[in-house]
Amino acid sequence: MNELKDKKILIGVTGGIAAYKVVEVVSRLKKLGAEVKVVMTRSATEFIAPRTFQEITKNPVSVEMFSETVNYHVEHIALANFADLVLIAPATANFLAKAAHGIADDLLTTIILATPAPLMIAPAMNTLMLEHPATKNNIEILKQRGAKIIDAETGLLACGTSGKGRLAEPENICAEIVKFFAPKNLAGKKILVTAGGTVEPIDPVRFIGNRSSGKMGYEIAKAAQFHGAEVILISGNATVEPPANVKFIKVETAEQMRTEVLKEFDSVDAVIMSAAVSDYRPKTIYPQKIKKSNENLTIELVKNPDILKELGQLKKNQLLVGFAAETANIISYAKDKIDEKNLDFIVANDVTQEGAGFSVDTNIASIITRDGEIENCPKMSKTELAEKIILRVAERL
Ligand code: CTP
Repeated sequence: MNELKDKKILIGVTGGIAAYKVVEVVSRLKKLGAEVKVVMTRSATEFIAPRTFQEITKNPVSVEMFSETVNYHVEHIALANFADLVLIAPATANFLAKAAHGIADDLLTTIILATPAPLMIAPAMNTLMLEHPATKNNIEILKQRGAKIIDAETGLLACGTSGKGRLAEPENICAEIVKFFAPKNLAGKKILVTAGGTVEPIDPVRFIGNRSSGKMGYEIAKAAQFHGAEVILISGNATVEPPANVKFIKVETAEQMRTEVLKEFDSVDAVIMSAAVSDYRPKTIYPQKIKKSNENLTIELVKNPDILKELGQLKKNQLLVGFAAETANIISYAKDKIDEKNLDFIVANDVTQEGAGFSVDTNIASIITRDGEIENCPKMSKTELAEKIILRVAERL
């Protein structure tokens, strides 16, 4: 996703060994679509060369307040006004002290006074320095003034000791930035997403499953979270990692999925059922492994509960979104499912098309609403389709 497209981020790098980790932060922010400029303190250049940031950001790196070569006209004001967000990483104890007390004795601290942009600060230093009352006090002052502090993590420090003071991982710093810019049109809403494929055991080693990878549902969960919703993700078998910061419930069978979904149903605003739920399960689960004997083996299957249909009967104000994996007559079958399961809309796809359906990273779908509107979505990434689905949910909630 291009979550940070058109976002302008100014990064202040101060003089700590963790400065090298900020290269990774900048690189990730660029990949997310942000425009990044870097200002370094003179001490920071002892740890890493400005050219490194210059190459990644494709922008000049500013260090000196009064330099022979000026990157921008009235540099401290130009940079202060450029930013939608200012991130300081790593922030040294010295920087925190100066920023807390309004001291402006170099380019970066001057920009901090001049910028109208919100401030995010990721401190990194020796544990005793971090826990010194002066530093704690300075962090408290900055917090009260509205700065967001990205807490240092605990681990091995460059000085050889172990404790709190490591710069937060680049991944976590970027996640905070993405969260900061995320549109909050689902704030206060609780969304339940089901994903992956259910697994129906035959005996202790065999099961009936399906080709679902969980990708579509996991992307929907991420998109819902990105828009500010509280997300519950109930998942069967999946080949991808669940997103962070969602309530994640792993299940195996359709019946387990039904139990968990029903537990949450009353408290949610919307349910998006993207799971591939097995329609049938073996009537008997053999307690021991089935040994081969006859030429043929017959396993009797019985019908599983239709979770979505049950939700359609129970629903009060919840918005219900279904999926339909079809191989023919997509629109008409999907419309039937809207009626049969009492849905608000359905995402239907022809799983026989190349680039649609299970396992692949893309999908080709039609979103069909209860009142008959059809939006055909050409081949696009599951991330993009998830965003479309969530925007429709947000519109209706
Ligand atoms: N679904 C469900 N419980 C089931 C089967 C399906 O909740 N036992 C949900 C799926 O998560 C999906 C929707 O119902 O959102 C449609 O599933 P699909 O398998 O396409 O349709 P079915 O209703 O099972 O009908 P058919 O298999 O005949 O196409």
